[in-house]
Amino acid sequence: MRRRIVAGNWKMNGSRDLVGELAGQVRSASASLDNGVEIVIIPPALFASDTIAALSGSAKVGVQNVARWQSGAYTGEIAAGMAWDIGCEYALVGHSERRQLFGESDDIVAEKVAQVLASGLNLMLCVGETLSERESGEAEAVVKGQVRKALAAVNGNSWCQVVIAYEPVWAIGTGKTATAGDAQGMHREIRALLGELGAPADEISLLYGGSVKPDNAAELFAQPDIDGGLIGGASLVAEDFLSICQAMPART
Ligand code: PGA
Repeated sequence: MRRRIVAGNWKMNGSRDLVGELAGQVRSASASLDNGVEIVIIPPALFASDTIAALSGSAKVGVQNVARWQSGAYTGEIAAGMAWDIGCEYALVGHSERRQLFGESDDIVAEKVAQVLASGLNLMLCVGETLSERESGEAEAVVKGQVRKALAAVNGNSWCQVVIAYEPVWAIGTGKTATAGDAQGMHREIRALLGELGAPADEISLLYGGSVKPDNAAELFAQPDIDGGLIGGASLVAEDFLSICQAMPART
């Protein structure tokens, strides 16, 4: 059965104080969540250890990026194995901000995917089309191409480490959300593609990201192929993040 996940991507925000405050609120509220949601907090890497300590097992922790190499003379980079070593359980790869601002091509994304899977971390692969790609009717082809290239070398048991987040670039941090119907349609296509790639498609969690807020989360999470959300802005406000976690329907 696939996991239902709400992940908070803090991006380059926060401080040690904020980590203690937000993670403390997640820790105390998580006990009363009875819908089986898996919570993942993805802070700046420098604060990952503090976050793990502050959450004390109430949520999992991830990193926002990893190097495409295993180790060596790569000043400033962080290896997937290092994130694993300190107790992280997830790594985001291919976030649109990395693709757009740091020139991460599909080839680089695929190299990072390989590092993440080899390290033992779970992969949260981000894919999504830009506004101009959507307007020119290419959204589905772009997203499927990103999934195909990133996961070309995945096989066997590694599939159980894979989570995909569909995040239309035009919806990230803009207040615009894909309609629940459009998001569901893309998730269905991604799941169908996973089947073609030989993955156990029904077991793989697919998240939606892009301006998820307390008032639209329930409708998105009610879609049959949407298994949760990747939350940016709203994850920095404990009350909003927790109400998004609460919006996950309990399994029937
Ligand atoms: P947002 O960001 O929720 O602020 O739109 C989502 C993301 O970038 O993961």
